[in-house]
Amino acid sequence: MRTPLLALALAVTAASASPLSKRNLSLQPAGTTTPPSQDPFYQAPNGFQRADNGQVFKARPVWTPFDSEASAAYQVLYKTTLATGEDAVTAATLYAPLKPASPPRIMVLAAPIDSACRDCEVTYALQNGGGSNATDFILSAVAIDIFAGLYKGWYVAVPDHEGPKAAYIAGVQEAFGVIDGLRAMLNFPNILPKTDGYKAVLHGYSGGAHASAWANQFLSTYGKGLNVVAAAYGGTPVDSFSTLDLLNGSPGAYLAWGALTGLANAYPELDDFFKRELFPNGTAALKAARSLCNTQLAPVLYNQSFYSFFRYGRQTLNMSTAAKYTNLGLLGNPVKQDISPAATTDGVVHIPTFMYHSITDNIVSYKPVPAYVKSQCDRGAKILFESAPGFNHTVAAVVWTADTYNYLESAFNGTLKLDQCNQTLGVSTQPGTPEYIAAIGPSAWNLIKGAM
Ligand SMILES: *[C@@H]1O[C@H](CO)[C@@H](O)[C@H](O)[C@H]1NC(C)=O
Ligand SMILES: *[C@@H]1O[C@H](CO)[C@@H](O)[C@H](O)[C@H]1NC(C)=O
Ligand SMILES: *[C@@H]1O[C@H](CO)[C@@H](O)[C@H](O)[C@H]1NC(C)=O
Ligand SMILES: *[C@@H]1O[C@H](CO)[C@@H](O)[C@H](O)[C@H]1NC(C)=O
Ligand SMILES: *[C@@H]1O[C@H](CO)[C@@H](O)[C@H](O)[C@H]1NC(C)=O
Ligand SMILES: *[C@@H]1O[C@H](CO)[C@@H](O)[C@H](O)[C@H]1NC(C)=O
Ligand SMILES: *[C@@H]1O[C@H](CO)[C@@H](O)[C@H](O)[C@H]1NC(C)=O
Ligand SMILES: *[C@@H]1O[C@H](CO)[C@@H](O)[C@H](O)[C@H]1NC(C)=O
Repeated sequence: MRTPLLALALAVTAASASPLSKRNLSLQPAGTTTPPSQDPFYQAPNGFQRADNGQVFKARPVWTPFDSEASAAYQVLYKTTLATGEDAVTAATLYAPLKPASPPRIMVLAAPIDSACRDCEVTYALQNGGGSNATDFILSAVAIDIFAGLYKGWYVAVPDHEGPKAAYIAGVQEAFGVIDGLRAMLNFPNILPKTDGYKAVLHGYSGGAHASAWANQFLSTYGKGLNVVAAAYGGTPVDSFSTLDLLNGSPGAYLAWGALTGLANAYPELDDFFKRELFPNGTAALKAARSLCNTQLAPVLYNQSFYSFFRYGRQTLNMSTAAKYTNLGLLGNPVKQDISPAATTDGVVHIPTFMYHSITDNIVSYKPVPAYVKSQCDRGAKILFESAPGFNHTVAAVVWTADTYNYLESAFNGTLKLDQCNQTLGVSTQPGTPEYIAAIGPSAWNLIKGAM
C-alpha cells in the first residue's frame, strides 16, 4: 500500500525536475508484483540495437526499503551487450542521496544476485522490498552498502548485471552489465542532474565481487571513457574449480549449480553441450536453477553432488566445450575476440583496487586468490589485499566494510596513495568501533548491529 503513494510522490518530483522530451524515455508506473519475465518494462523497445551502450530507454520511480536515505530511486532499462556480442537491454535501480557530494560521486554496487533465474534479479528484489521470492536472498546482502553509499552522499547504481539471460558467473556479461549500468546513471538526469567532474567506483561482495572484478578488467576497453577511480571487492571467485569443489555436495551446492546454469544461459554452445552430457537428474536441476530463486533452489540441491549429474562427472568440465568456458572464467586471463566479440581484455586491473578475503571462507575458496593477486601485481596492477583467518563468508562481508568505505572515500577525495601492491594480514578498522560506524553511517550500522 505504501508503494503507489510513494511512487506517485517521486513521479511528481521527477517530472518537475527534468525535461524528458530530449531523450527516448518513457516514464511508467511501477508494477509491484509482476516478475521481469512477464513485465513489459523489461522488454527492449524497437530499434534498441541502434542505441549507444548505457542509453536509457525506460524509467519508472520505485519504492525500495532504502528510501529513508535517498532523495529518489528509479528503475531504468538500458542498452548493453550480451557476452556473445549481440545487443541487449538490462535494468538497474538508481539512487540519489539526500545530500549529494559535489562534484558527483557514483558507486556501482554489484549485488550478489547469484541466480540463473530471470525473475530473481536485483531490480525486481529491490522493487518488491519484501514481497517476492527474489527478495530474501539479495536484500540483506545489498542493504548495508546502499545505506552506506547514500549516507556518504554518493549516487548508487545497482544493475541487473547478469543481463537479460540471467548469465550468473559469465564474467564477460557481468562486466558489460556493470559498466553500462554506470553509463545509464550518467545518462539519467532525473537521478543525476549534472555529471560534470564525476568520479565513479565499483564495489561488490561474493557474486557481486565477481561482477565487479570482471568489470574492472574491462574498463580500459568496453568501459573506455568512463572515469572510474577505484574498486573494492571481497570474497571474490577467481576460478571455477576451487569453488565448485568447495560447494559440491555441501549445503551451498545451489550456488555452484546456479553458476554452471548461468554460464549455459550466456553461451548456447555450452548449453547444448550440457544437455548432451547431463543425466536426467541434471537436466531437472538445470531447469530448477532457471526457474527458482535461491530460497527455493537451496533445499532442492542441498548437499547434492552436482558433479554426479554429469555422465562423466567432474571431468566433464574439462572436456573441450566446457573447458573453453572454464578457462574463459579464470579471472585475470587475457580474453580474446574469438570468445568475446564485443570487447577484449588483457586481464589486468588498471585502477587502484582493494580486495579482501577470509582465509577460512567456507563459500568462495580463498586458495587461488593470493596467486591471482600476485599475478596482477607482477603485471603492474595496484592492489591492496587484506586477508585474515577465522571469518566465514557471511561474516567476512561486514568485517571489511569500513575498510572498503574508507578506501573508496579516499579515492574520491584524492588522498588514496597506492603506489605498489600491499598485502596485509588483518582488518584496519575493527567492526563496532566509532571509526567503523563513522565510515558507514548509522543506518548501515544499525543493520549490522541488528544481525549480530
Ligand atoms: C527513439 O524514438 C524514436 C521515435 O519514437 C524512434 O524512431 C527511435 O527508433 C527511438 N530510438 C531508440 C534508440 O529507441
Ligand atoms: C551436508 O553436508 C555437510 C558437509 O558438506 C555435512 O556436514 C552435513 O552433515 C550434511 N547434512 C546432511 C543433512 O546430510
Ligand atoms: C516463489 O515462491 C512460490 C511459493 O513458495 C513458488 O511456488 C515459486 O516457484 C517461487 N518462484 C521462484 C521464481 O522462485
Ligand atoms: C544423478 O543420476 C545419476 C545417474 O542415475 C546418479 O548416478 C547420480 O547419483 C544422481 N545424482 C544425484 C545427486 O542424485
Ligand atoms: C583438467 O585438465 C588439466 C590439464 O589439461 C589438468 O591439469 C586438470 O587437473 C584437469 N582438471 C580436472 C578437474 O580434471
Ligand atoms: C558464520 O559465523 C557466524 C559467527 O560465528 C555464525 O553465527 C553463522 O552461523 C555462520 N554462518 C555460516 C553460514 O556458517
Ligand atoms: C579522505 O577520506 C579519508 C577516508 O575516509 C579520510 O580519512 C580523509 O580525512 C579524507 N580527506 C579529505 C581531505 O577529505
Ligand atoms: C599497507 O596497507 C596497510 C593497511 O591498509 C597499511 O596500514 C600499511 O601502511 C600499508 N603499507 C604500505 C607499505 O603502504
